[in-house]
Amino acid sequence: MINNKQNILTVLVCLCAGLILAGCGERPPVDSQQVGYRGTAMVNFTNPRVEAATEAANAVPAALPAVPGDGPRAGEVYQNVQVLGDLSVAEFARVMLAISNWVAPEQQCAYCHADGESLASDSLYTKVVARKMLEMNRDINVNWTAHVQQTGVTCYTCHRGKAVPESIWFADPGPVTAGGGVAGSRMGQNTPATATALTSLPYDPFTPYLLDAGPIRLATDQALPADNDLNVKAAEGTYALMMHFSDGLGVNCTFCHNSRAFASWSESNPQRVTAWHGIQMARSLNNEYLVPLTSTFPASRLGPLGDVAKVNCQTCHQGVSKPLYGVSMFADYPELGAPKAPAAQPAEGEAVAAAATD
Ligand code: HEC
Ligand code: HEC
Ligand code: HEC
Ligand code: HEC
Repeated sequence: MINNKQNILTVLVCLCAGLILAGCGERPPVDSQQVGYRGTAMVNFTNPRVEAATEAANAVPAALPAVPGDGPRAGEVYQNVQVLGDLSVAEFARVMLAISNWVAPEQQCAYCHADGESLASDSLYTKVVARKMLEMNRDINVNWTAHVQQTGVTCYTCHRGKAVPESIWFADPGPVTAGGGVAGSRMGQNTPATATALTSLPYDPFTPYLLDAGPIRLATDQALPADNDLNVKAAEGTYALMMHFSDGLGVNCTFCHNSRAFASWSESNPQRVTAWHGIQMARSLNNEYLVPLTSTFPASRLGPLGDVAKVNCQTCHQGVSKPLYGVSMFADYPELGAPKAPAAQPAEGEAVAAAATD
């Protein structure tokens, strides 16, 4: 009798565990794809059951129809256009409509332009932020092609129809420790953090590397390196950042590294070089554009330590190794790249000379 009860209990426990695991979507079998020389274990694993949701989240909205680029410039026609002055009036209107759909699909123009006020007014903070974002977007597409290639980015790459992008980060003070003191201190780690794919590695892997230029490389050929900074804590910092790379891009370590020799560049995949440029880019975007906006944002948008929301790899990538599966929305919005040179006006002398020969 007791045995029977125990058996039923065992079956129930197994069933529940099965149901819980099935709910994760991470159950086997998984697909694998070879990404390096055979025998080097350089394989990427993907789960076909998770893939469908990722694909849906990374679908690209249809582009607005193209419009004429001739006629007077927005900078001449409008009163307070500081970034997009080189566009035609039609191109300018198309960009305004596109950014409304990408950033504030419900509120549309009113998210950045206060009702009943001139469109030239900068009274809403959202407009001031959006202007800086326009500059940032152009900077990425013009100066960071080592990372984004010709694919480039638009506001949609990060925003995906939301005013606040899905993946942003703040400096993380960590959970309040019970008791306090040395015994209660977590030393910035030892609590599963989503930033590091639920490992107990340091829960703020971003401030040291994507804001400050902290050292990521620590492999050394000396048993006792003179540089005392190459310690276990530093190694955990590097690994925490690497967990974010893998999670943010939806890849394994071997997408970039040969795990036989993590530090070796000659044995790594070319994607690791792209990633290196990505680190420099993310750091630059945070320091050049987001940090200077700190006082522009209302307090409700700032983090627990009063810092501004910042960019990491996931902000653009959102679980895919090329954001939006490598589809270039920028190709349909070249206005978000290099400013157009003003139409060549014949110099006064040439015009006179041309008239004289008529
Ligand atoms: C996400 C914020 C945002 C949204 C949404 C938005 N705008 Fe703008 N708008 C701006 C920014 C930023 C500028 C200034 C651009 C610059 O300095 O180059 C601007 C400038 C303008 C100007 C020029 C006004 C002047 O005289 O200086 C017009 C016109 C305009 N927007 C119309 C619209 C319309 C129409 C919509 C809705 C379809 C819209 N905007 C939606 C941010 C936005
Ligand atoms: C590299 C990623 C990235 C790109 C590209 C990007 N943004 Fe942002 N944007 C951010 C981050 C991060 C924030 C800060 C989040 C917050 O508002 O708290 C932000 C905030 C904003 C806000 C303020 C929203 C609010 O409610 O506080 C506006 C408006 C905005 N962006 C407009 C744009 C526009 C327009 C473009 C394209 C020209 C653009 N962004 C491109 C990352 C990006
Ligand atoms: C998207 C590419 C990418 C992925 C995925 C990735 N890494 Fe890295 N890794 C890099 C880059 C780039 C560097 C070098 C950064 C630098 O030099 O500034 C690096 C550096 C390292 C280093 C330091 C090497 C040295 O010179 O001391 C280690 C260790 C490391 N990664 C381990 C891992 C582990 C473990 C994983 C998986 C959890 C991983 N990486 C995933 C790109 C990647
Ligand atoms: C501003 C948006 C943005 C940010 C932030 C960003 N990336 Fe990218 N990344 C892109 C785009 C766009 C591409 C696609 C380029 C292409 O088409 O080849 C890309 C491509 C890559 C690739 C090449 C993938 C492949 O299949 O060849 C790697 C690796 C990569 N990014 C790593 C990173 C890492 C690591 C970070 C954070 C340190 C990062 N990215 C941050 C936009 C971004």
